Amino acid sequence: PQQSSADLVRDNTTLTPDFPQPGILFRDLSPLFANADAFRQVVEQLAEPFAGRFDLVAGAEARGFVLAAGVAIATGKGALPLRKPGKLPPPVLSESYSLEYGDASLQLTEGLIPPARVLLIDDVLATGGTLAAARRLLERAGHEVVGVAVVIELPELKGRARISDLEAHALLSE
Ligand code: PRP
Repeated sequence: PQQSSADLVRDNTTLTPDFPQPGILFRDLSPLFANADAFRQVVEQLAEPFAGRFDLVAGAEARGFVLAAGVAIATGKGALPLRKPGKLPPPVLSESYSLEYGDASLQLTEGLIPPARVLLIDDVLATGGTLAAARRLLERAGHEVVGVAVVIELPELKGRARISDLEAHALLSE
């Protein structure tokens, strides 16, 4: 029988204490991306609750890119990469946020594509700063964010509270 998504994620994630800073337990999904069956199951399950309700899949640089591209291909939709600063030529829209370890921004080219229904994807929902900024950016660009799907949610960091009015789906929450 197929392994549950939560088990699959747990078995294909590396955990590194005190990286990139003391006190942070770094979770890396690279083993999952490298496992063809696991990667396929995960992208399919990320999209499943939102089936038929989105036209485009957005993900934040860098780890969100891999998953958003996978979900886009698996569902026959386009992908929208949200970039870190300094990567896109003007005119850009920009949204800043704080991370568990530092400050960051995300950018999107102004007027890139017509308004769409967007599913927002990421690997980890920690403090929620990344997804909240991504959501603001997409809405400023005229898009409707229909929901958020992440592989891992860290409920202790209460990130869901920062996107509390959005439908949010996590494959593993612990
Ligand atoms: C990580 C992760 C999420 C975000 C989660 O990305 O991929 O996008 O942090 O944290 P938050 O919920 O507290 O915002 P990071 O900014 O480290 O960038 P990377 O994908 O380039 O490694």
